[in-house]
Amino acid sequence: MLLPSLSCLPLETFQDEVLVLVFFCEECEMAATSATTFSVGSAISFGPKASQLPHSKPFGVRFNSKNSLANFSGLKAATFVSCESETSFMSKETAQALRSSFARKAQKPNQTQYGLQPQASFKVAILGAAGGIGQPLALLVKMSPLVSALHLYDIANVKGVAADLSHCNTPSQVLDYTGASELANCLKGVNVVVIPAGVPRKPGMTRDDLFNINANIVKTLVEAVADNCPDAFIHIISNPVNSTVPIAAEVLKQKGVYDPKKLFGVTTLDVVRANTFVAQKKNLKLIDVDVPVIGGHAGITILPLLSKTKPSVSFTDEEVKELTVRIQNAGTEVVEAKAGAGSATLSMAYAAARFVESSLRALDGDGDVYECAYVESNLTELPFFASRVKLGRKGVEALISSDLQGLTEYEQKALDALKPELKGSIEKGIAFVQKEAVSA
Ligand SMILES: NC(=O)c1ccc[n+]([C@@H]2O[C@H](COP(=O)([O-])OP(=O)(O)OC[C@H]3O[C@@H](n4cnc5c(N)ncnc54)[C@H](O)[C@@H]3O)[C@@H](O)[C@H]2O)c1
Repeated sequence: MLLPSLSCLPLETFQDEVLVLVFFCEECEMAATSATTFSVGSAISFGPKASQLPHSKPFGVRFNSKNSLANFSGLKAATFVSCESETSFMSKETAQALRSSFARKAQKPNQTQYGLQPQASFKVAILGAAGGIGQPLALLVKMSPLVSALHLYDIANVKGVAADLSHCNTPSQVLDYTGASELANCLKGVNVVVIPAGVPRKPGMTRDDLFNINANIVKTLVEAVADNCPDAFIHIISNPVNSTVPIAAEVLKQKGVYDPKKLFGVTTLDVVRANTFVAQKKNLKLIDVDVPVIGGHAGITILPLLSKTKPSVSFTDEEVKELTVRIQNAGTEVVEAKAGAGSATLSMAYAAARFVESSLRALDGDGDVYECAYVESNLTELPFFASRVKLGRKGVEALISSDLQGLTEYEQKALDALKPELKGSIEKGIAFVQKEAVSA
């Protein structure tokens, strides 16, 4: 596979420093499921002698600076930099769109406004936008040329986040909404709602320990989604995802607007981790690796199907066990390393942004978008199950059943073992909403 080559077009000069604002992936493919590539929007500053940096590789990105000038309106760009990267989260088309957007701008040197025209006009809302996940997620979504408006909602501290983000000269308009009284306005006309609101784990806690607080938060927020943007794709990040997704489904059913094709538990981080760990272990090029992860999103319910890894690679029994356990416990690895200061936020934001981007591409008519997600499913006897899904304009177009065929003995046993736990979490979520309805 070709290495993706990235061209960084807009440069902004701040005193003696040049800030590279956006990278575009030209060659990478948004491949099926987890081989998906994220296009990176990184802000990397370096001194005026950009040409001295061709071999630096921050964030896995290689720079090859050239002395061709991109005349970007209003910016004192003095250098054209092309970059090569091994990872990206935007598709070729999206990257191309963003680049064209900048290129168009560059052809109008007299125009003083820095804003860019979005390639598509989707509105994305992030509920819990001032949090550890919400902030970096908002930044990554702000980079998408498919987004025309980014609505940031939180119960506190979201004004500053929005003010900060709104200075980035990427296409979308950023609007902030604080508190319950502004929630409805935040959601009106939105195409994708992402929910990372809630409390994260502390060391020693399981995801299920978060149930009591987060169940209520998700219920309240999804009620507002049902009332204000019932057609939106809903991405649930708040844990325990195994229960919060059934909670959301029950709420939407009660409101009479449940569309199972549009409700997703975000399990992308499990895929991102599986790809990373397998690539490290087997010394593979990261962008090539694609490991489907099925089941749910907690402990043993996270089941990476290593036998279905692409490219095809063989593992010893010990490697399978070690990798599976590491992928299942990767969240705890981060919780313990942060020692009380939260759970995975940056990698989660990266994963969630990838899922948003995939959803937007599907909404935009791309017919080749696959991701793993925890959705209503008939692949097993459980009503909700994470698997690869094909995404389209109307949400889930197909559940990919082939991954569940021809499992190894280890995977089959793990699948059998996870079902009772996942079933319990699903039932707990459903019972929570039904009990509330009875007592109301
Ligand atoms: N799905 C996954 O793979 C995954 C991975 C990591 C974390 N998580 C979960 O994501 C959630 C958020 O994690 P975080 O690290 O960003 O936590 P955080 O505490 O840093 O941020 C949560 C944000 O939610 C806000 N919030 C609380 N109640 C709200 C409400 N009613 N309405 C709107 N906003 C509200 C808070 O003000 C805060 O800004 C946690 O439940 C965590 O367990 C999921």
